Amino acid sequence: MNILLLGSGGREHAIAYKISQSSRLSQLFIAPGNGGTSAVGTNVPISVSDFASIEKFITSNNIDMIIVGPEVPLADGITDFLRGNEKLNKLIIIGPDKKGAMLESSKDFAKSFMVRHNIPTAKYKVFTQHNIDEGYKFLDLLKAPYVLKADGLAAGKGVLIIDSLSEAKHQLSEMLCHEKFGNSGSTVVIEEFLTGIELSVFILTDGNNYILLPEAKDYKRVGEKDTGPNTGGMGSVSPVPFADPQFMKKVTDRIIVPTVEGLKNENINYTGFIFFGLMNCNGDPYVIEYNCRMGDPETESVFPRIDSDIIDMFIAAGNGTLNDFTIDINPSTAATVMLVARGYPEAYDKGMFIDIDAAYSDMVFHAGTKFDDSDRLIANGGRVIAATAFGEDVENAFYNAYDLANKIKFDGKYYRRDLGQDLL
Ligand code: AMP
Ligand code: GLY
Repeated sequence: MNILLLGSGGREHAIAYKISQSSRLSQLFIAPGNGGTSAVGTNVPISVSDFASIEKFITSNNIDMIIVGPEVPLADGITDFLRGNEKLNKLIIIGPDKKGAMLESSKDFAKSFMVRHNIPTAKYKVFTQHNIDEGYKFLDLLKAPYVLKADGLAAGKGVLIIDSLSEAKHQLSEMLCHEKFGNSGSTVVIEEFLTGIELSVFILTDGNNYILLPEAKDYKRVGEKDTGPNTGGMGSVSPVPFADPQFMKKVTDRIIVPTVEGLKNENINYTGFIFFGLMNCNGDPYVIEYNCRMGDPETESVFPRIDSDIIDMFIAAGNGTLNDFTIDINPSTAATVMLVARGYPEAYDKGMFIDIDAAYSDMVFHAGTKFDDSDRLIANGGRVIAATAFGEDVENAFYNAYDLANKIKFDGKYYRRDLGQDLL
């Protein structure tokens, strides 16, 4: 199989790493990739948004399968675009079409989908510039903290959680009337605040059947003890101890099955990952958000635990035969520590040299790295490298991941030192 993987983050390096272990692989290309993916495949300098060049690359390189890592090309309709080319009717595409991607690209769509299919989620209402006064009144009825969400994609920044009522009203007007978050915020979902502990659950579906992938916990805040601004994710761990069989049965019965059935009933053809961002509220799961792709950095701890041949899994998804596929999961715990650049998630340093030997250990997944003109590995993003290690439990896995993280050196390296402690 010749495979093209789209994306350039730690998620894509972890997916590429698993693909490279498959006996079915002929050639793996990653567009555009990063300084790590070139160790397991061939980087191609094509942007994930350049659909025409992607199509051309697929035809001229006999690509059999494309896996779309990030949400933006899915939300922009790359799947519909490639499906429109009859010559590519044998191409396996892992990633939903534009309609399916709306589970992530429109919070309004996702919330009303959940209501239609009786899927537990926070109570909410939707507002635009035209009914902003009703928005103010709705906020008056809620208790703090107030949760305001830009409807569209906002690179993970579109959710505001605000303690003061007056500030919440101000931010609502900023979003609706002053283009905070641009067009993404021209519709705003206001919802009830849910108290509990979060986890990320993933499935791969062929539109009819699905397989459950290992769940994970992500650490979103930049500071220790969950303080400071939100980030793309500072670390992850899989499995999650509180996601026991009893809790996961509730997730399956109340959330996963109704979601897959709901997509089918609404004639949404969905081949790809669904990421359920969940809140465990006293043992009951609620959906905080859907994503139409894998999580980052969750993938860096989830994918290493998949022992099955990953290409077989993708072929089954593409052919609609996931019901015949059994996934083998490594029972060990995988923990990931994200090494970030000084300043992240605000303006951050770039261009620092990275100690290259350590950076090529087995499960060191590159996120923001590249090679400079003299072929030296340098930092090229806020999240630079994810260090993943196995262990017998959460404590031991993080102990090993920190050990690996300490071997990777670059100027201004920062990481959270408290990952996993909330689970002990
Ligand atoms: P989202 O982009 O929807 O995942 O939201 C970003 C983060 O905001 C989530 O990971 C949660 O930590 C938090 N969040 C979102 N919605 C709620 C809610 N209704 N109640 C509590 N926290 C929330
Ligand atoms: N780690 C959260 C996300 O990928 O959206």
